[in-house]
Amino acid sequence: MDLLSNKWITNLLVCALFVGASCNSVEKKIYVHLNYTVPCVRLLNATHQIGCQSSLSGDVGVLHVLESEENLDWVLSSGPNPPYMVILESSLFTRSVMMKLKNGSSRVAGIVVVAPNTNPVEGFSPHTSCPNENTGVYSESYDPTLAHCNVTVWNPLGNGLSYEEYDFPIFSLKDDNDTQVIRQCYLNHNQAVNGSSPRYPLCAMQLYSHMSAVTDTATCMRRNDINFSISPEMVCDPLGDFNVWASTRPLNNTEKGHKMWEKVVIAAARLDSRSFFFDVAPGAESGASGFITLLAAAHALRNVTQEAQPNRTIFYTFFQGETFDYIGSSRMVYDMENNQFTVDLDNVHSVLEIGQVGLHGESRLWLHSDPVSRRNSSVNEEVRKLIENLQSAAAGLGFTVGEAGFSQPLPPSSFQRFLRARQIPGVVIENHQLNFTNRYYESMYDNAEYLNVSYPPNLTPEEQLKFVTDTAKALTEVATMVARALYVQAGGAENQQDNINADRQIVSQMLYGFLVRSNNSWFQQLIPSDLTSHLTDRPTNFYVGVNQQSSEPTLLVQYLLANLTGSAINITQENCQNQREDENDKESKHMFTYMWVQGAAPPNNTKREGFCVRSTVRLSRAVSPAFELRDYTSKDYSTWTESRWKSIKGRIFLVASHELEMLTLGVGVGVLLASLLLTYIISSKADILFSSGREPT
Ligand SMILES: *[C@@H]1O[C@H](CO)[C@@H](O)[C@H](O)[C@H]1NC(C)=O
Ligand SMILES: *[C@@H]1O[C@H](CO)[C@@H](O)[C@H](O)[C@H]1NC(C)=O
Ligand SMILES: *[C@@H]1O[C@H](CO)[C@@H](O)[C@H](O)[C@H]1NC(C)=O
Ligand SMILES: *[C@@H]1O[C@H](CO)[C@@H](O)[C@H](O)[C@H]1NC(C)=O
Ligand SMILES: *[C@@H]1O[C@H](CO)[C@@H](O)[C@H](O)[C@H]1NC(C)=O
Ligand SMILES: *[C@@H]1O[C@H](CO)[C@@H](O)[C@H](O)[C@H]1NC(C)=O
Ligand SMILES: *[C@@H]1O[C@H](CO)[C@@H](O)[C@H](O)[C@H]1NC(C)=O
Ligand SMILES: *[C@@H]1O[C@H](CO)[C@@H](O)[C@H](O)[C@H]1NC(C)=O
Ligand SMILES: *[C@@H]1O[C@H](CO)[C@@H](O)[C@H](O)[C@H]1NC(C)=O
Ligand SMILES: *[C@@H]1O[C@H](CO)[C@@H](O)[C@H](O)[C@H]1NC(C)=O
Ligand SMILES: *[C@@H]1O[C@H](CO)[C@@H](O)[C@H](O)[C@H]1NC(C)=O
Ligand SMILES: *[C@@H]1O[C@H](CO)[C@@H](O)[C@H](O)[C@H]1NC(C)=O
Repeated sequence: MDLLSNKWITNLLVCALFVGASCNSVEKKIYVHLNYTVPCVRLLNATHQIGCQSSLSGDVGVLHVLESEENLDWVLSSGPNPPYMVILESSLFTRSVMMKLKNGSSRVAGIVVVAPNTNPVEGFSPHTSCPNENTGVYSESYDPTLAHCNVTVWNPLGNGLSYEEYDFPIFSLKDDNDTQVIRQCYLNHNQAVNGSSPRYPLCAMQLYSHMSAVTDTATCMRRNDINFSISPEMVCDPLGDFNVWASTRPLNNTEKGHKMWEKVVIAAARLDSRSFFFDVAPGAESGASGFITLLAAAHALRNVTQEAQPNRTIFYTFFQGETFDYIGSSRMVYDMENNQFTVDLDNVHSVLEIGQVGLHGESRLWLHSDPVSRRNSSVNEEVRKLIENLQSAAAGLGFTVGEAGFSQPLPPSSFQRFLRARQIPGVVIENHQLNFTNRYYESMYDNAEYLNVSYPPNLTPEEQLKFVTDTAKALTEVATMVARALYVQAGGAENQQDNINADRQIVSQMLYGFLVRSNNSWFQQLIPSDLTSHLTDRPTNFYVGVNQQSSEPTLLVQYLLANLTGSAINITQENCQNQREDENDKESKHMFTYMWVQGAAPPNNTKREGFCVRSTVRLSRAVSPAFELRDYTSKDYSTWTESRWKSIKGRIFLVASHELEMLTLGVGVGVLLASLLLTYIISSKADILFSSGREPT
C-alpha cells in the first residue's frame, strides 16, 4: 500500500475522531472544483426526451482522455476500472464516437468535451439535417413531394447529436487551466504505462446535472400539476420568451383583432439559436446576421417613413424560439387568427424574411419562395413583384440577388408558419441557393470568428466597438437593399430609394454588441439603469430558455429597436414611466411605448443624463399555443419543455481502489463495533464502575 493510501486511512481515522474542522481541510485537498462548466440539459417534446442528465448524487468515473476513436476500446471493453469519465477533444466529438459511447453507457459515467479555441475547418453541426421538419408548411397534405427535405437537405452537415438522448452527463470545458488540471491528473495517475493497467489511487471526476423531468412533455406537465397542488415545485417549463415588434405607423395596441383599412408588410427575422450545450448559443450566422440586418434596415427607414409615410405599414418582427418548432411565429399567427393580436391575418399584405445573410466574401444572395402557393396566379404575381423589387433595390450595391430554383421549397423559416395559415405572398432572403452554406448551423462555432468579425490587435474595447469590419460593410449593403425594397413594397415612391441607406457604424456596433461583448458603452446608453446587470462581457447567448421575463437578447433587441426607430422626447421621467406625454394624456399609451433609458454622461461629468424614448416597439408572448390549449401532444405546435435542475457542477479527486475502500469501511465498522461493545460494557457495569459517586435514593 502506498503512502497516499496510508494518509487516507489516517485522515479517515482523524476525521472519525474529531468530526468537524479537520474533515473540511481533507475535502479541500482532495477535490478540485471545476470552474466554467457548461452542461447539456434535458429537453422534452410530445413524444421524446433529449439531452443529458446525471443521477441524483452525480455520476463518478475514472478519467480517461480519449486519444483516438480506436482508443474507445479501453472505455467500452478492455479498461479494468469502469465506469469511465471520457475526456474528448472536439475533433472526436463526432456522431460515430458519441453513438458508441451511448451504446456502451454502462461503462461510461459521463463525457467532457474540450471546446477548442478555433473553429474546426471541416464544419460541425449537431442539429438535424432537416430542421423543424414536422412543423413547417411542407407536410403530406401540403405537397408530399416537398415534405421532409425531399428536394433539398438544408443542413447536410447536421449529425443530429443535439436530438439524441444520453443517460449520462455531458459537459463542455474551455481549453484553459481547468482542462490542464484534468489532463495533468490523468497523466499522473491514470495513464496505462506500456500495457499494464494503472494503479490506485486513480484520478476521477464527478459531474452533477440531475434533471427532474422524464419521458415527455405530457408526463412532466401532469407532474407539474400534481406537484403544484402540494408545493409550487415544478419539474419542467415550456420553452418560450417574447417576440419583439414595431411598426412604421403607430397601431392601437389595445385594440385586438382589428380589421384595419391599411395593409401591413411584415419584415421578419429570427432571434434565437442553440447549440449542443445549454448556455453557449452564439448564433452569429443563423440568427444575428439576419436580425442585425433587419434592425439596420429599420433604422434606415426611420426618417423616410416619418416624412413620406407609404400607404402600407411596415411591421418589423423578431421571433423567439424559432429553433424549437417555430415557437414565436406560430404563436403570433395563432394570436392573429384568434383576434388576440394588434394586426389581423387579413391585414397582412406580404412577408419579407431575412434569414442567414452573412456573405463571407461572396457577392450573391438568393431569394426563396414557396412553389405551392405560387401556383395561385395572384400570389405568384405578388411574389414576382417583390422579387423584382428586391433585385432593383440591390442595383448598384456590392452584390447580386438571384432567384433560388422555382421548384425548390422554402428553407426552414418563420414565413412557413404564415403559409400554413394563409396563402400570403412572401420571400426569404438567404446566402445559399441550395443547402446551407453555414457549416456550423446551431453549434457553438457559429460565432464571431465564423462571421469574420475580428479586430486588429491592440484596440481598446471602445475602439473595437467603433471599428468597421468588412462583415459590417457587407451587412450594411444587405440592410440597404432590404430597406429600399421594403419601402417600395409598402407603396413608397421609387425615387426615394437613394435617400435610404443603412449606417455601417450602427451595424458594426451591433455586431460587436451581440457577438463580442454586450457590456459596451453604446448598449449601456440604450437601456434603463436597472437592466445594466444583463450586459455581459461575453457573446450573447441566444438559447431561448424558459424566461418569464424577457431574456437578454430580447431585451437588447427591444431597446435597440426603440432607439433605432423611435424618437427621443423631452418629457419628465415620471410621465415617461407612466406611459404618457403629459398629465392629461390618456390616449398615447395605446399607440406608443415610452422607455426611460439611462443615456450617456456628458463630458466632465460621471452622472448619466437619462431621457425618454417614444417608439412603437412592443413585446408579444412567444410561448407555444400548445401550452395555451393544454394540448401537450400537439402535432401542429411546438411542445418543447426544459427540465428543471438543482445543481450543475463538476469536480475531480483521487479515488482509492475497491479493496482500500472495503478496508476503510472495515476499519470504520470495526471502530463502531468496538465502541458499541465498550459502551455496552460500561453501561452494564456502571454500578460497579461509578458506584462510589452515587447519591443514595
Ligand atoms: C451496442 O453494444 C452491443 C454490446 O453491448 C453490441 O452488440 C452492439 O453491436 C452495439 N451496437 C452498436 C450500434 O454499436
Ligand atoms: C420525393 O419527390 C419525388 C418527386 O420529386 C417523388 O417521386 C418521391 O416519391 C418523393 N419521395 C418521398 C420520400 O416522398
Ligand atoms: C451543398 O450544396 C453545394 C452546392 O451549393 C454542393 O456542392 C455540396 O455538395 C452540397 N453539400 C452536401 C453535403 O450535399
Ligand atoms: C420529438 O423529438 C424527437 C427527437 O428529435 C423527434 O424524433 C420527434 O419526432 C419529436 N416529436 C414530435 C411530436 O415532434
Ligand atoms: C492559468 O495558469 C497560468 C500558469 O499556471 C497562470 O499564469 C494564469 O493566470 C492562469 N489563468 C487563469 C485564468 O487562471
Ligand atoms: C476555480 O476558481 C477558484 C477561485 O476562483 C480557484 O481557486 C480554483 O483554483 C479554480 N479551479 C481551477 C481548476 O482552476
Ligand atoms: C385604442 O383602442 C382602445 C380600445 O378599443 C380605445 O379605448 C382607444 O380610444 C383607442 N385609442 C386610439 C388613439 O385610437
Ligand atoms: C434623420 O433625420 C435627422 C433629423 O431630422 C438627421 O439628423 C439624421 O441624420 C437623419 N438620419 C438619416 C439616416 O438620414
Ligand atoms: C396612397 O394613398 C394616397 C392617398 O390616400 C393615394 O393617392 C395613392 O394613390 C396611394 N398610393 C398607392 C400606391 O396606393
Ligand atoms: C439613440 O441612442 C443614442 C446614443 O447612442 C442617442 O444619442 C440617441 O438620442 C438615441 N435616439 C433615440 C431615438 O433614442
Ligand atoms: C425640455 O423641457 C424643459 C421644460 O419643459 C425645458 O426647460 C428644456 O429646455 C427642454 N430641453 C430640451 C433639450 O429641449
Ligand atoms: C473639462 O475639464 C477640463 C479640465 O478639467 C477643462 O479644460 C475643459 O474645458 C472641460 N470641458 C468642458 C466641456 O467643460
